[in-house]
Amino acid sequence: MIERKHKQPQERLKLIVSKFSKLHGLLSASRRLNQGLVESNLVLEKQNTLLAGRIEDATTNLSRLYEDLRSTYMRTIKVLAQTIDARDHYTHSHSENVVRYAVAIAREMKLPARDVELIRQACELHDLGKIGVGDSVLLKTSSLNPVEWEQIKKHPAIGAQILEPLTFLNAVVGLVRQHHEHYDGSGYPEGRKGDDILLGARIIHVADAYEAMRSARSYRKIPLMKDAAVLEIKRNSGTQFDPRIVDVFLRVVDNL
Ligand SMILES: [Fe+2]
Ligand SMILES: [Fe+2]
Repeated sequence: MIERKHKQPQERLKLIVSKFSKLHGLLSASRRLNQGLVESNLVLEKQNTLLAGRIEDATTNLSRLYEDLRSTYMRTIKVLAQTIDARDHYTHSHSENVVRYAVAIAREMKLPARDVELIRQACELHDLGKIGVGDSVLLKTSSLNPVEWEQIKKHPAIGAQILEPLTFLNAVVGLVRQHHEHYDGSGYPEGRKGDDILLGARIIHVADAYEAMRSARSYRKIPLMKDAAVLEIKRNSGTQFDPRIVDVFLRVVDNL
């Protein structure tokens, strides 16, 4: 029998049907796959949204925790600083008053709110280093001998050293360290001069000196009258104090 070159129409039809059926199967499988992908995408999108929400919540919680920690630290240090003021009943409100005077000067100078806040924090902590000065020196009623005076002069550096590990107080540390520097370079601890002293520290220095004159001290029971204290600030303008800050101080002193 001669082999026929071409298949019978019936067989061809069978072949076409079978191919069509395979194709149909493939198409259905592809459709199912697509459907599956769409569903998986939806699930992934939902999970993404959920995850993003959780990350946002976690970030908010972390920021809150950090803020809590920061304010707890700040309160602890403030209490510590107030304890220093309280050691000497003559100076119990000293830091509080220095805050008032320095903030008034900074606001009059139109310093940015962030800088005013740093000055406020530095004032609260400026004498923290007196924790390292003994009562016999700190509360002495007569004048200090050179050795005792050297002890007192260490307090800005001691205060800065205590605060240094607290990274969120970085900008405050310099102000605490420099609050006894004099404009003419005769101050301590580093003998800095003019604009080499941080602006905030120059402001605190005027506020601190004025507050010290206006309140009683163990070595001076009667505070200086306002006029006498103002005169003393003016007299030391350009030497102990930055003259530009003294000018601003003179503009606000009547409202203090
Ligand atoms: Fe001081
Ligand atoms: Fe002080």
